[in-house]
Amino acid sequence: MSDTSGSGDWHRRTLEHRGALFAVLSVAAIAVGSVVELVPMFTVDFEPEELEGISPYTPLEVAGRDIYVREGCYLCHSQWVRPFRSETVRYGEWSRGEEYAYDRPFQLGSRRIGPDLHRVGGKYNNAWHYEHMMDPRSTTPGSIMPTYPWLAEWKVDPADATASVTTLASLGHPYEASVLSDVPAAMRAQADEVVADLAASDITVEHDDEIVALIAYLQRLGRDGRAKIAAAEAAAGGEGSP
Ligand code: HEC
Repeated sequence: MSDTSGSGDWHRRTLEHRGALFAVLSVAAIAVGSVVELVPMFTVDFEPEELEGISPYTPLEVAGRDIYVREGCYLCHSQWVRPFRSETVRYGEWSRGEEYAYDRPFQLGSRRIGPDLHRVGGKYNNAWHYEHMMDPRSTTPGSIMPTYPWLAEWKVDPADATASVTTLASLGHPYEASVLSDVPAAMRAQADEVVADLAASDITVEHDDEIVALIAYLQRLGRDGRAKIAAAEAAAGGEGSP
């Protein structure tokens, strides 16, 4: 194979043709990227007033979030509304840093095959989410999102959920002692509300079906931040008024 001249050649000859060197440099590049992502997660410390109005996910929402991660929803969905008009018109308020304080690990995502989900909480009712997860084409003609029928069959394991919540509590997420002492009971109380709401739309689910936890999680997304931003804007508006 004869080389042609040009700058693309330099890359091929000096790097790509030297397997060992290329492997070492690739590992170094990936290591730098990993450190840049990991360090803030362990070192960022919020002032207490910054976290006012932002609370950790409830146990049921934590269980739903674990399902979101397991199913790889982040491969198609971001959770990060950027501060551009094109984004805020479509998705709502841009995302603030403190909104991720209790997102471990964060679900920013790096691809948008589907829309951003950071402000999806409250956008649709629970029945819509159920139908959409069972068959996205039923709510959104032409959707390319996969179906997730097993979420209506598989059960949330209370031991797994307890382990997740306990771990988050050990990282400083402020949970009430009463919640920590009986995580399954806290999950049940919130799940019963979702089950009753779905029943009103003639959808029958059990309290421990995975879909219930996932819906609870999706309905929570972006809500604390939105309420906080609205309150801050009202206060700012109030100051200037006569
Ligand atoms: C292959 C890519 C893909 C995957 C994986 C995927 N989605 Fe989607 N999702 C989409 C697309 C495309 C849309 C837009 C069309 C639609 O509403 O179905 C969408 C829409 C949505 C919406 C509605 C958003 C809005 O504002 O209208 C929600 C909620 C959602 N997805 C949740 C999920 C969850 C939860 C998972 C994981 C269990 C998931 N998606 C996995 C591609 C994907």
